[in-house]
Amino acid sequence: MRVLSGIQPSGALHIGNYFGAIRQYVALQEGNDAFYFVADYHALTSVRKAETLRKYVFDVIVDLLALGLDPDRATLFVQSDVPETTELAWLLSTVTPMGWLEKCVSYKDKVQQGLPAEHGLFAYPVLQAADILLYDADLVPVGQDQKQHLEITRDIAERFNNTYGEVFKLPKPYILDQVAVVPGLDGRKMSKSYDNTIEIFDDPKTITKKAKKIVTDSTPVESPKNPDTCNLFQLFKLFASADDLADVDRRYRSGGIGYGEVKVRLADAIIAAFAPARERRADWVAHPERVEAVRVAAALKAKTAARTVLDRAREACGVGRSRTP
Ligand code: ADP
Ligand code: TRP
Repeated sequence: MRVLSGIQPSGALHIGNYFGAIRQYVALQEGNDAFYFVADYHALTSVRKAETLRKYVFDVIVDLLALGLDPDRATLFVQSDVPETTELAWLLSTVTPMGWLEKCVSYKDKVQQGLPAEHGLFAYPVLQAADILLYDADLVPVGQDQKQHLEITRDIAERFNNTYGEVFKLPKPYILDQVAVVPGLDGRKMSKSYDNTIEIFDDPKTITKKAKKIVTDSTPVESPKNPDTCNLFQLFKLFASADDLADVDRRYRSGGIGYGEVKVRLADAIIAAFAPARERRADWVAHPERVEAVRVAAALKAKTAARTVLDRAREACGVGRSRTP
């Protein structure tokens, strides 16, 4: 089965991204033909500095490699290494009603906030549809927030197929397991936009410093506490061993454990959990030529797959020279 997903390079990845997405991408590379790409065309709607964008793209690639995406199993490529994407986006845009895009949340939100919204943000879902349809994807693992984009992708594909014949495969969304909505330092959902993240590859000192900032109530050490409503405990749960978890859970309920102790134990557990990945990352960073080789090989594979589908679409709608004289 062809599994495909894109990740925007818009800053360092945090532990919410890990549990909510990356861990599941790694699992899906087993037994599937997995394509994952770094969505740099999409990031242009928010990142406006060439060096910054190039750095973010490199960072996401090395982060994903370090976290277990295996370039021998998954095709890990950069969206703009396959410029066929933008041609398909144009073909698709000619069958996409304005009304579908006007209801999309990211565009609507910006306009409602009175911010200027560019055409790129408006057309973002069409580009995303091109990303998906270009690779005959069967399954697209995404977070709940991307569900609308997947629906539009299917609608666009159907409209194109109804107009020109069966060109595109209809992809199925695979909404990622959001049981693990990871809370951030302030208790809201961990997100770059709330500035409440612990980044996966923050250095150990920063992780400890950030853990100490996690907001808790002011229940004294000796009083009982409710682990189920405590965001510090929710984070601890993601990293602790079964024994540690049982110990802390018991002492929360009986009283006798302070938040300070849990914060230190959490920081240590996070640092230990990502230590092997941190080492692998350092190794990739020390060998940028290897990262480049992964990127080039993946681009070639992605481009070959993309060309077949783009030619099918061009032929169907009558642009370019016909291949069947
Ligand atoms: P951010 O909110 O930091 O901008 P993105 O929207 O780029 O994160 O998220 C990329 C992926 O990571 C999505 O699949 C999303 O569902 C997942 N994700 C992001 N934050 C969290 C979180 N706090 N808990 C679980 N999953 C998350
Ligand atoms: N829009 C997605 C996000 O912000 C990223 C993305 C771009 C994507 N193209 C895609 C995800 C294609 C899945 C399939 O997270």
